[in-house]
Amino acid sequence: MKSSTTQGVKILSTGSAVPHISLNNDQMSEIVQTSDEWISTRTGIKERRLLTGSQQSVADLAIVASKKALDKISMDPSQIDLIILATSSPNDLFGSASQIQHSIGAINAVAFDLTAACSGFVLGLVTASQFIQNGSYCSVLVIGADVLSKWIDWSDRSTCILFGDAAGAAILQSCPSTENSILNFQLNTDGHYSHHLSIPYQDDKKPHSFLNLHQGSFKYISMNGKEVYKFAVSQVPLSILKCLNSLNMSVNDINWLLLHQANERILNAVAEKLSISRDKIIANLSKYGNTSAASIPLALDEAVQEGKIANNDVLVVAGFGAGLTWGTIIVRWKEL
Ligand code: ACO
Repeated sequence: MKSSTTQGVKILSTGSAVPHISLNNDQMSEIVQTSDEWISTRTGIKERRLLTGSQQSVADLAIVASKKALDKISMDPSQIDLIILATSSPNDLFGSASQIQHSIGAINAVAFDLTAACSGFVLGLVTASQFIQNGSYCSVLVIGADVLSKWIDWSDRSTCILFGDAAGAAILQSCPSTENSILNFQLNTDGHYSHHLSIPYQDDKKPHSFLNLHQGSFKYISMNGKEVYKFAVSQVPLSILKCLNSLNMSVNDINWLLLHQANERILNAVAEKLSISRDKIIANLSKYGNTSAASIPLALDEAVQEGKIANNDVLVVAGFGAGLTWGTIIVRWKEL
């Protein structure tokens, strides 16, 4: 660990991975009572990718996304100092980040998981940038990955139509403070509403006979869709405005709006509230659904690959989801 300095942070590379198996809305309507028309008009989702087969886990997707990000810049994995895996669907409750560290050969990296549902990647980026800015670490791999298909009740049409599996990764590195890309962030939590979106743990009814010790298991995703919708549309614009205001920037300075890909109606409503034109919204949820912590880095990686984002463009990145947790990062993009 180095001494305390104020370094800049640059996003050096991105990568992503999605499973090969795709399930479109017509196929979904063979599983639950729904239709392409209902799903498309309410959510904008057309299809989603699902991680099928035994022994496949979130770590497999995260490893592919990480390797792609490393390969793009021919980076030796031993140069990575820290790996942060944002996920709510680990394959080990003690954490999956260390499996990724081993698999990609990041022999010098410390690795840990971070759980903040669909805000996980935003919180991961902020955490990574703190370690870089204070001079503790030079190169950090941040991954957002989720396989919520494993935690969905496939007979519940109100949730199973929404989610898909994916992973996205970004490599951050220190740079001179004059070239800093992470301009500001603004984070929030309101645990009062945690019950609106959760994967609750439940004790089994019968306690252990001697100790009155209750053991149990996690249940399926439970969500109050209407409340989550209202929360996102009301709170995300406020977070973005607070973040812009403290930089003396206005919505006119925004080139791209990159929101957590939950629902097309949420994306459009947030843009409308901020008077941002729809052609500035980065959206790919029609192909992947809501991929939780993976949605932002997956959409970012695709936008970069498509050459959408130009040097010095201002990106407003905002995550929101279970917790409830939400937050914004303002990025000045520096060409990779
Ligand atoms: N197909 C057909 N009908 C359906 C379906 C479906 N898949 N799901 C629900 N319905 C029915 C309901 O039963 C209801 O019927 P009823 O009026 O006879 O009772 C009707 O459609 C309306 O249901 P609502 O739940 O009121 O639908 P709503 O307009 O609220 O849309 C939706 C539901 C799309 C889930 C919306 O509330 C939403 O997008 N909320 C945000 C959810 C979200 O983004 N969650 C993820 C957050 S990120 C994270 O951290 C995981």
